[in-house]
This record gives sequence, structure tokens and C-alpha cells, in this order.
Amino acid sequence: MNLLIMGPPGGGKGTQCEILTKELNITHISTGDMFRENVKKGTELGKKAKEYMDAGQLVPDELVVAMVKDRLSQPDCAAGFLLDGFPRTVPQAEALDRTLNEMGIKLDAVLNIAVPRERLLERLTGRRVCKACGATFHVLFNKPKVEGKCDKCGGELYQRSDDTEATVNQRLDVYEVQTQPLIAYYREQGLLKEVNGDQEISKVTRDVLAVLGR
Ligand code: AP5
Ligand code: MG
Ligand code: ZN
Repeated sequence: MNLLIMGPPGGGKGTQCEILTKELNITHISTGDMFRENVKKGTELGKKAKEYMDAGQLVPDELVVAMVKDRLSQPDCAAGFLLDGFPRTVPQAEALDRTLNEMGIKLDAVLNIAVPRERLLERLTGRRVCKACGATFHVLFNKPKVEGKCDKCGGELYQRSDDTEATVNQRLDVYEVQTQPLIAYYREQGLLKEVNGDQEISKVTRDVLAVLGR
């Protein structure tokens, strides 16, 4: 199954992907995670991306598209993938259409996880992520069993550098202007499946599986 998950910053894309990729046995491709990995390793791509990420802006389309094209051609994507955080602009969506066409692959569905803006600041400033395995927690809504430690691997939890109030507000503005138009783009293609993301994590997962006919 080849899927795409959309939604605002803090909408719960990453959280749902952790569960869905296991449930559906498909590969998680998060462009945000890939950039953070590059930042950590200090690559040229990471250095370029970090400036945009810390300003709450999008990384230029050509850098993102090249990175995703390369990732989709790797063997673990052949059995199915779940794209998270890409595409985020109409040119990125058009580039993805062309790439998938060339590869002879079709998207099965585009999930849109909808959450009202007023919920997102609290979700993002309270988010904690595992340094070792990337698992996501929240200080109120998805507490780790031991404060500051990952339930899955015992790794140390940290706060993303773009999860400050000022950067979050900038990211939400950018989302509304640049990414929201993709909802109509995929609705017109008949691929859009809408899910209410303003519910408990496990309920969102159930609704996603239901719209996928699982
Ligand atoms: P990226 O990492 O993709 O960030 P984002 O889109 O802003 O989304 P988030 O990861 O912040 O939120 P999420 O929806 O995954 O929520 P999560 O599950 O963690 O991108 C970062 C940056 O990289 C961008 O700003 C940009 O600069 C660059 N970039 C990436 N892709 C790009 C692209 N294609 N083009 C250009 N630039 C790109 O949940 C959030 C919190 O809420 C967690 O604490 C979680 O525990 C909690 N939570 C989750 N679900 C629920 C629920 N149902 N109820 C209560 N709490 C919940
Ligand atoms: Mg995420
Ligand atoms: Zn961990």
C-alpha cells in the first residue's frame, strides 16, 4: 500500500506513522526526520536545511524533491510506503506525481489528519522525542512512563529546536499558505481521505484504518 499522510504541524502525523507502518508493514518516509538526521550528521544538506527549519520556513522544493526521489528508489519502498510531511507545496506534489508515474507506482490514498489550530501550540511545545529511536511523546497527552526517558528503548528525550512558541506560530502560518492547498489538489484526484485528528491517539488510528478499509 502506498500512502501519504498530511496535516498541520503537530497534527499527529509522526505519531500515527509509528503505529501505521507496523500495522500495515510499510516503510515510513518522513522528510522532517530525514533533514534532522542530516543536521545531526552535519552534512551539506543538513547545514542548508537547518537554517530554514529553525526559522519555521520550508526547505526549497528542489532539495526536498531530490532527496525523496532518491529515497523512493530504495528497495524497502517496493513493498509500500507512507510519506509523512511530503509533499508540502503544489510544485512538490506535481514532482511526486511525475516521479511515481516514471516508476509505474500509484498512490492508494492520501490521509488528511485535521486538527484545529488552537490545539497545535500546546501539542508542539509539550512534545518530547527520543534521541535514540525517534519515538514521540507528550508531557500531558502521551506521557513516558519515566520522565525524560523513552518507553521503547530507554533513550533520552529531547525537545525539537523548532518547537518553541515563535517558530511554531511561523510553521502554522506557512502550513496554511503553502500546504493547505494540497487538500483540494488530492480531493480533485479522488484520493483524499479525511480523518478527525482531534481525538485520542488510538481513536485516530482506528479511524485511519477504517477509511483505508482495514
Ligand atoms: P516535520 O518534521 O515534518 O514537522 P511538521 O510537519 O511541522 O510536523 P510535526 O512533525 O511537527 O508534527 P506531526 O504531525 O508529526 O505531529 P506528532 O505526531 O509529532 O518538518 C520539520 C521542518 O522540516 C519543516 O518546518 C520544514 O522546515 C522542513 N521540511 C520537512 N518536510 C519538508 C518538505 N516536504 N518541504 C519543505 N520543507 C520540509 O505530534 C505532535 C505532538 O502531539 C506529540 O507530542 C504527540 O505526542 C502529540 N499528539 C499526537 N497525536 C495526538 C492526539 N491525537 N492527541 C493529543 N496529542 C497528540
Ligand atoms: Mg512529524
Ligand atoms: Zn527510544
